[in-house]
Amino acid sequence: MSEPAVLSLPEPAPEERPVLVVDFGGQYSQLIARRVREARVYSELVPHTISADAVRARRPLALVLSGGPASVYADGAPRMDPALYELGIPMLGICYGMQLMALDRGGRVERTDTAEFGRADLRAERESELFTGLPDEQVGWMSHRDSVTAPPEGARVVAASAAAPISAFEDPAARLYGVQFHPEVVHTEYGQDVLKNFLYRVAEAPPAWTAAAVIEEETARIRAEVGSERVLCALSGGVDSAVAALLAYKAVGDQLTCVFVDHGFMRKDEAEQVVETFAGHFHVPLVHVDARERFLARLAGVSDPEEKRRRIGEEFIRVFEEEAGKLGAVRYLVQGTLYSDVIESGGSGEGVAATIKSHHNVGGLPEEMDLELVEPLRMLFKDEVRRVGEELGMPEKMVWRQPFPGPGLAIRIIGEVTEERLAILREADAVVQDEIRRAGLYRELWQSFAVLPAIRSVGVQGDERTYAYPIVIRAVTSDDAMTADWARLPYDVLEAISGRIINEIPGVNRVALDISSKPPATIEWE
Ligand code: XMP
Repeated sequence: MSEPAVLSLPEPAPEERPVLVVDFGGQYSQLIARRVREARVYSELVPHTISADAVRARRPLALVLSGGPASVYADGAPRMDPALYELGIPMLGICYGMQLMALDRGGRVERTDTAEFGRADLRAERESELFTGLPDEQVGWMSHRDSVTAPPEGARVVAASAAAPISAFEDPAARLYGVQFHPEVVHTEYGQDVLKNFLYRVAEAPPAWTAAAVIEEETARIRAEVGSERVLCALSGGVDSAVAALLAYKAVGDQLTCVFVDHGFMRKDEAEQVVETFAGHFHVPLVHVDARERFLARLAGVSDPEEKRRRIGEEFIRVFEEEAGKLGAVRYLVQGTLYSDVIESGGSGEGVAATIKSHHNVGGLPEEMDLELVEPLRMLFKDEVRRVGEELGMPEKMVWRQPFPGPGLAIRIIGEVTEERLAILREADAVVQDEIRRAGLYRELWQSFAVLPAIRSVGVQGDERTYAYPIVIRAVTSDDAMTADWARLPYDVLEAISGRIINEIPGVNRVALDISSKPPATIEWE
């Protein structure tokens, strides 16, 4: 029998081979991939429908089967190509993944009376491969109704909880491993250690995936991709486009031109910081376009949030095209697309997440420009982008900047955007940033900012009645912006923010605090 062509390729070095996370639709699938990467092993999500041939072509060091919402017995429950078991690749099944493995390999899965949700006390066997070096009593975080009641043929049970006597099994000869608990969540005390045991001991994956390695790999890739052609990049001020631009600059030097369109909706001093960092510090060729008046004119009289976004997006494209046109022939465009965007837009083969707001990322550019995309962050999660940024020497303030929407302050003024309102909001936001940083809370919060609803209320200042704007403080904690909780800011921090905003900023006489979670509210007000 002739072998598939891929098998005749030279064997890649272990540090070049991924660990693939087979996604059965579990809420933690992405998190598993992140945890594997935190163990410094490169990892990617693949859909459960992937064929054994496609997996073999990727030469993975291991497969991790994720959890999932279905019961393995449900109609249409996701399965995987049975030929995957024949590849001899080490496999770790988590929750649903473990149950599927049991079902496929001669074990048994049943709906018992004892579902487990949340914390469970585990008794683990220290002589096993998964639990080597770990205490035999430990806490595992569970979320299952079905349980494995007989392990796969040849596998032995290596951990138990009261409700699930088979909480983990392993079969080193067949290279099959399963855990009912979720090693990827922080509530599982030794979860990361269990994963490391699997990765380092079982799969013999070297912990070689570091920021420095990513930089080397990506710059080589960019160089190979663009050759001697010219490259363009739109800087937004955010960490993603900044890191993507620096990687491109490191790869091709002056073949790159960055265009920074200042729409006037950035926070205080942010535009200056972009120019200072890129042109001043890194000497990246930078075109700085001051388009503040144009954008303000386009928003005159507009208060509908979607209409604002649309106009800003459109105007951005127009300005960018004008500037790019002046540069002559350019073939490539660098974009800071992240792995989570790739996954969300169906990159993992799953459905496209519902769009609640039209996110006009400034930097989303027209197809008519006919530029080929270079996306050096396509396989990176946000925290990894930050580590790469640090390694590249980007200033701390830029690397750790909280997410900031493309349309910026324009969607934090509820109502028409005017110069006066922008000036007030910019100052109020600066006070919030300042006090949050002073309190050491900046990195803990997903976002913290000020909102200006364009209404007025009555106040009294000195002996005079005032009729002025309120400022709303919005601060949230979140892992991924899909859900968020309002941050319990200390009273003294709130007091400092409120006191300073009211005393320092004319035109504001009231400060309120937004105490809504997402859902049902969103993080931004528009
Ligand atoms: P929401 O408000 O929907 O926001 O809870 C979720 C995350 O997305 C950011 N966001 C935007 N980012 N353009 C962007 O580039 C936008 O129009 C936009 N709207 C919201 C928001 O700051 C939060 O991090």
